[in-house]
Amino acid sequence: MLLPPELRSAISHQLEGVSRNLLSERSSQISSHYRSGGQSTHAMNDELDALAYAVVRMPATYSAVRNVLSRLQERCPAFSPASLVDFGAGPGTASWAASDGWPNIAAITQLDANMLLLQLGQKLKESASSTALRNSRTIRTDLSAPQPILPATDLAIISYTLAEMSTAEIRALLTSAWSQCRGALVIVEPGTPGGWERILLGRDLLLSHGAKILAPCPHQLPCPLVAPDWCHFVQRVQRSRDHMLLKSADVPWEDEKFSYLIAVCEHLFYSAQRDRILAQPEKSKNEIRIKLCRTNGQAEFVQVRKRDLAAFKALKKKDWGDEAGSIAPEQSR
Ligand SMILES: C[S@@+](CC[C@H](N)C(=O)[O-])C[C@H]1O[C@@H](n2cnc3c(N)ncnc32)[C@H](O)[C@@H]1O
Repeated sequence: MLLPPELRSAISHQLEGVSRNLLSERSSQISSHYRSGGQSTHAMNDELDALAYAVVRMPATYSAVRNVLSRLQERCPAFSPASLVDFGAGPGTASWAASDGWPNIAAITQLDANMLLLQLGQKLKESASSTALRNSRTIRTDLSAPQPILPATDLAIISYTLAEMSTAEIRALLTSAWSQCRGALVIVEPGTPGGWERILLGRDLLLSHGAKILAPCPHQLPCPLVAPDWCHFVQRVQRSRDHMLLKSADVPWEDEKFSYLIAVCEHLFYSAQRDRILAQPEKSKNEIRIKLCRTNGQAEFVQVRKRDLAAFKALKKKDWGDEAGSIAPEQSR
């Protein structure tokens, strides 16, 4: 997956005349800061730091969010949000992904504490073809403090932001975001055990507030996975030349691992739940072995043999993260 062309050219425009050596230094500092669990506020001291973040991380976080939004579209094809609130928007990554998925979004609000990322986002969105994105409302706010009452929204996205908050802050933010959501609330986190734990925390909380879990879980029961296993997915991201340079990369792509949750209001919870593929399927000529989260709340490996031709053919086209369709118990081992 690639960033949309207008966003790519807006980033290239910002990069004009910028020393790649300096940018590379900043990107290494930011990466090690995030790896050690640091927050964006302390990772960024000037505009160059924000730009390094956009070059190195925006393609991956954009692609993960876009992937998740396509899961929401699969499950709710009729959902067409008119409004979006992007919590912890940073440079506006999730707003770009949502505008790509639903070009009819009419109103976007972006909330973040980091002035440098918000300012960069402001410059980038000037090139957006979406009028809503160009005119989006930006509010500088600390999301760990009680939020002023915001207008209701059809879609709320919190992408790669909870990692920077305490458990109590996450609970307060999700409670407030859910109370203003009248459609779907989407959370995306790094695909690490820590990211999954935050997703589970959010899942329990949102269920207790009456939300329906649309994906990835095909049920509303407790998560069947037990640590050290964790629920995560992967999206391949094409690297730009600058990305390769800054990351000293050998290959023109990277695999972004992410965990996510889509919680919806009752009226969007209308289609039948289907088993979800939780890992890369092992496919051979005569057999496919897949790890499934099933509608009955169990996680298990299932083998489908070629003699079960219809199921075998259907599964051959499926990938990690897809819905598996219904596999009858006699096809399972
Ligand atoms: C890793 S960046 C992710 C940005 C963007 N959502 C994305 O997916 O690329 C995390 C963002 O969360 C914001 N953030 C973290 N804690 C926050 C808080 N307490 N209040 C407001 N923003 C916060 C940071 O300023 C930063 O922009």
